Amino acid sequence: MPRVRHAAARGIRAVVVATDNAGEAAACGVAAYGFGSLRDVVEHLDGRVRVAPCAVPPRAGEPRHEVDLADIAGQETPKRALEIAAAGGHNLLFVGPPGTGKTMLARALPSILPPLDDDEAIAASAIHSVAGLADPRHPILTARPFRAPHHTASHLALVGGGSPPRPGEASLAHCGALFLDEVAEFSPSVLDTLREPLEERAITISRAAGAATYPARFLLVAAMNPCPCGRYGDPALECRCLPEQVERYRGRLSGPLLDRIDLRAHVPRVPYERLRDEGRERSSEVRERVIGARERMRARTPTRVNADLTVAEVRRHCGVDGETEALLAEAVRARRLSARGYHRVLRVARTAADLAASDPVRGEDVALALLLRAEP
Ligand SMILES: Nc1ncnc2c1ncn2[C@@H]1O[C@H](COP(=O)(O)OP(=O)(O)O)[C@@H](O)[C@H]1O
Ligand SMILES: [Mg+2]
Repeated sequence: MPRVRHAAARGIRAVVVATDNAGEAAACGVAAYGFGSLRDVVEHLDGRVRVAPCAVPPRAGEPRHEVDLADIAGQETPKRALEIAAAGGHNLLFVGPPGTGKTMLARALPSILPPLDDDEAIAASAIHSVAGLADPRHPILTARPFRAPHHTASHLALVGGGSPPRPGEASLAHCGALFLDEVAEFSPSVLDTLREPLEERAITISRAAGAATYPARFLLVAAMNPCPCGRYGDPALECRCLPEQVERYRGRLSGPLLDRIDLRAHVPRVPYERLRDEGRERSSEVRERVIGARERMRARTPTRVNADLTVAEVRRHCGVDGETEALLAEAVRARRLSARGYHRVLRVARTAADLAASDPVRGEDVALALLLRAEP
């Protein structure tokens, strides 16, 4: 697909490809002729056997999502964090004891992500094509990818490599989400390889045979326990870990990686009364708000979601009133927020305001952004 897209962009209008790839090629907007052998190609070119170009394959319908937000009891604040992440493209970490719904929450993310536009659909599908993972009947993705590599994943599996260079999970998640469950169990050196894609939004793989650059613009969602036994900070249960064990456990998520995670939400145990609560909001309603917020962002900064706003754009679009500024100043002092941390709070607050269809960033948006920056 990348080769056919490249050719199409240069004005080539017809391509010859292997039969199995004809659907993918046709989806790139050229006449794609599929053949099983070079002899068939020659016969076609000689005019002895005429072959028709492959039809553009139909798009698959919208997928059914495995988890709906309405399935999840309580967890109002983590749900808001998930909604803000989906709308503004902010990376997100869930921290909480086992069995409180962290994995479930993360798996509900695809149900509230906005639909892929045509360019994104082709770009994401092209990576699946290179990795040999395209579905021949429906080579064009209709939903944002959601990749959840296991914590035993190698460097190669996560960011790609090999000869010829293959894309890894981080590129397969392009235009979608990369979910790292039990993130503290990943090898720190493997996690460290994510810094490049998180900064550059792409991964370059160099090999003797040449270098390949694959896009890797994904939303990072991670989940972890607060300590090895999972009870640290739980008001009802006593944590049995030694302080240095707790510290070492959290230290596995390195500062530079944590620094790129705008949203950190605690996922507490759900009280009994909430387990049977009624009237929970469905994913489809939340998704409408996410789509509305994205439209507001596009009107302001057409090429960037709020998580990617430059410092100048933060200054221009995230102004707050005097009272809110005082709240921020207090937080910067009390939590020793860096300038970078300060801008991140404002970007998250901007997204919270967009979800509420508010032009100004309000005090409550900043308060929520500060709440969602808990220390892991
Ligand atoms: N908030 C919740 N609402 C509904 N069911 C829940 C909730 N939290 C946990 N569960 C149930 O417990 C199971 C385990 O939850 P999970 O998301 O794997 O927890 P965690 O990842 O925090 O350990 C889920 O499959 C679900 O059946
Ligand atoms: Mg889990």
